[in-house]
Amino acid sequence: MTKCRWCKQPFTRHAQGRPRLYCKSSCRQRAFERRLRRHPTGLRSQPTRGYVSNDNVMTPPALARALVRALQPSGTILEPCAGTGNFVKALRPYGQVSSCEIDRGADFLAWTQRVDWIVTNPPWSQFRAFLAHSLQIADRVAFVSTLNHLWTRARRQLVKDAGFGIEKIIEFDAPFTWQATGFQLGLVLLTLGHRGGCSVEPLAHGPHGRRRPGVAGS
Ligand SMILES: C[S@@+](CC[C@H](N)C(=O)[O-])C[C@H]1O[C@@H](n2cnc3c(N)ncnc32)[C@H](O)[C@@H]1O
Repeated sequence: MTKCRWCKQPFTRHAQGRPRLYCKSSCRQRAFERRLRRHPTGLRSQPTRGYVSNDNVMTPPALARALVRALQPSGTILEPCAGTGNFVKALRPYGQVSSCEIDRGADFLAWTQRVDWIVTNPPWSQFRAFLAHSLQIADRVAFVSTLNHLWTRARRQLVKDAGFGIEKIIEFDAPFTWQATGFQLGLVLLTLGHRGGCSVEPLAHGPHGRRRPGVAGS
């Protein structure tokens, strides 16, 4: 006999399978709803529960420079949501750079001109819209995000349908100014027509990209 975690009534556990915590599914549901109400943001699927989604997180200049150095973009390059412009400054030595920023009246989702590269840390709450639009207008798309953002079935399908493949993932640790999410951060490079494998490597240089013992590329 054990006690239900919700109604406190005793119940018998089955001998096999995962031990049940609740006597019936309605008790399990009530407990789930209470957990949901108690969490202020409702973001229960995040490993770090205190994480609050925020689109206005700028990429520190040193991190932007290190990521661009690792990417080596060229030709026409668009920073679709420049924020304070740290990627724009890092990109300038590499090609002909344009940018949008909604706070300055330039909506990326209304941009139609084709470019060779898009490089950015997008607003994560609009990740899918930014991804879908980027795949329509660029040959190479490099997004900073937690890596799980690329791995929903719908987003994998979106990437494949647009004729892109994931060529490279550059992993890095969260800058000190960013709130920890519990998910691995990285820059993901999507390339039009790429059918080969994907390399996963740590960011080798810079203050936010030092190799840590035990963290290896594979
Ligand atoms: C996570 S911040 C990153 C800024 C910059 N890319 C960086 O890495 O430092 C996202 C930025 O996207 C901008 N933004 C949101 N929606 C946008 C849109 N539709 N078009 C252009 N910029 C947008 C926000 O104002 C914010 O500055």
